[in-house]
Amino acid sequence: MNNNSNTDLIMQISNEVIRCTSCELCHTRRNAVPGEGSASARIMFVGEAPGRFEDVQGKPFVGPAGKILEAALINANIYRSQVFITNIVKCRPPGNRRPKRDEIIKCNDYLNKQISVINPKIVCILGATAYSSLLGGKAITVNRGKLLNIHGRNYFLTIHPAAILYRRSLLRVLEEDLSKLSKLIIE
Ligand code: URA
Repeated sequence: MNNNSNTDLIMQISNEVIRCTSCELCHTRRNAVPGEGSASARIMFVGEAPGRFEDVQGKPFVGPAGKILEAALINANIYRSQVFITNIVKCRPPGNRRPKRDEIIKCNDYLNKQISVINPKIVCILGATAYSSLLGGKAITVNRGKLLNIHGRNYFLTIHPAAILYRRSLLRVLEEDLSKLSKLIIE
């Protein structure tokens, strides 16, 4: 598939997300947040759900957790414009609560379509909610820094950048993991 048709398909998915009324989050969102970045990215990042800033701007990871992610990406020589960043759930859960199971299930199709169009070399899972939703995994802190191959797709696990807002010492962990990811992608 060439880059132009990839871009068109990703835009189509984004437009579906923007119009989506499949779950109750459509009533409280200001903007749906489909995700952004390169439609031919070699790395795709998947977080939990948009927060307040993302809801206002309609873009993923633009608030405090996003600033941390962006700095850790730069530190690892990964350019935000070359990757694709999205979330398990595309609309903000009120008060930033965890997305509910039915919200995750209803949103799942969008993420699966994004992954299959972009077909990244590695899907980088950010945090426990994305880990359990995508792979049914539990302990992210035990499994972080690992590359898993599941049904022919590569997944790399790391912590959620927001965890660093509560424990600064975790910044080193995210930086180490993203540096490892950066090396894996050029291998
Ligand atoms: N946290 C997430 O999981 N996703 C965002 O887009 C922002 C914060």
